[in-house]
Amino acid sequence: MEFIDVLKSRRATRSLDKINISDEMIRQLAEAASLAPSCFNKQPWRFVFVREEKRLQKLFEVLPRGNKWAHKASMIVAVFSKKEDDCMLGDRDYYLFDTGFATNHMMLRATDLGLIAHPIAGYDKEKAMELLNIPPDYVLITLLIMGKKALEFNENLSDQQIEFETSRPDRKTFGEFAYLENFPESL
Ligand SMILES: Cc1cc2nc3c(=O)[nH]c(=O)nc-3n(C[C@H](O)[C@H](O)[C@H](O)COP(=O)(O)O)c2cc1C
Repeated sequence: MEFIDVLKSRRATRSLDKINISDEMIRQLAEAASLAPSCFNKQPWRFVFVREEKRLQKLFEVLPRGNKWAHKASMIVAVFSKKEDDCMLGDRDYYLFDTGFATNHMMLRATDLGLIAHPIAGYDKEKAMELLNIPPDYVLITLLIMGKKALEFNENLSDQQIEFETSRPDRKTFGEFAYLENFPESL
């Protein structure tokens, strides 16, 4: 796929079908993440790949009703990091920023492999960390819900979520977030 097509086809859709996740797929996802830049090459990102059905079922219990669609996940990747593992420069702590780079690398590679990789913030953080054995000095930043795009809409979706399955939610115009030479000179 052309790079621009990977960017365009990455979507956080919610209707998933089960797919077999191989060790090789996990290795490819981890490799993509590892190529991300980070401050002083500190690589603060940490990932737990959960694909065992019994463990997935336990993880589904930490999701609120609004994220019930994620019960069809074939794998959940827990993304975590801690401040001290990356640059701390005055009021700039880079661990979330750098972990975001690595996570997006992984998501784009997943897209390239024909998978959906949908990040969520809606979960019980404490319960999830306990289940995953993540020590409390880390921040569990997101869960990546992974699977194959289903042909039919998931039965738990709201009308708006159904609309977003087929058309990408609106984006800001360039003038609302991009400036030329000087803030806030519109592009
Ligand atoms: C940090 C973060 C948290 C999100 N949390 C949720 C969530 O809890 N539930 C959900 O259904 N989608 C969640 N999303 C998905 C966004 O709603 C989605 O990315 C956005 O609407 C844009 O759609 P697109 O990714 O398909 O372009 C989250 C996305 C991000 C990046």
